[in-house]
Amino acid sequence: MTIKIGYAALLELDRLAELSLISEREHHERQPHFFPWTPSAQQTLERLASAFDSPDTNPESRTILVARNKGEVVGFLQFDLHSPDFESPASQIYILDISIDHSMRGGGVGRQLLDAVEALAKKSGIQRIDADVWEGNTASKGLFEALGYSPLKTNYTKLF
Ligand SMILES: CC(C)(COP(=O)(O)OP(=O)(O)OC[C@H]1O[C@@H](n2cnc3c(N)ncnc32)[C@H](O)[C@@H]1OP(=O)(O)O)[C@@H](O)C(=O)NCCC(=O)NCCS
Repeated sequence: MTIKIGYAALLELDRLAELSLISEREHHERQPHFFPWTPSAQQTLERLASAFDSPDTNPESRTILVARNKGEVVGFLQFDLHSPDFESPASQIYILDISIDHSMRGGGVGRQLLDAVEALAKKSGIQRIDADVWEGNTASKGLFEALGYSPLKTNYTKLF
């Protein structure tokens, strides 16, 4: 299996939405109080579509990385770039979502996507990458910790 990492293309939008919905459903199953409903396929599609700047002129999104196996998208990672102010270049990357096709999990695809975003950060002089991981998401915790990320804070809550 040879995985290739690249930027997402607009024509892959449906597949990205499919993968994102899987991840959203899993969040709902793990934390039904905080994710009481899962977005519709249309809402997910619209959210992801907004990442494609001007689809007419730029059919690639520069904030969504995809992992392709024989040309088929098997996982993606979406991120945001944060700047301290309007004039300064980005100094931080925030990972919005990372989702791998069920059949490909445990095969190093998530690791390759995170390696790629880290390479991008280094190339751009960005020295910090953040991500939120919900309690109970052992795979995600395992992934970030395996790549050297450490927890920053813990949110406490009590439900009645
Ligand atoms: C979390 C997720 C992206 C991991 O992707 P993946 O391609 O399966 O992960 P990899 O195979 O690259 O694993 C890399 C490392 O992560 C850790 N890891 C992966 N799956 C794990 C699991 N189920 N339990 C514990 N650790 C795990 C391991 O340390 C692994 O290293 P190893 O293979 O040397 O043991 C994937 O499980 C997924 O898509 N989950 C659903 C969506 C989601 O919850 N996204 C996170 C939102 S924050």
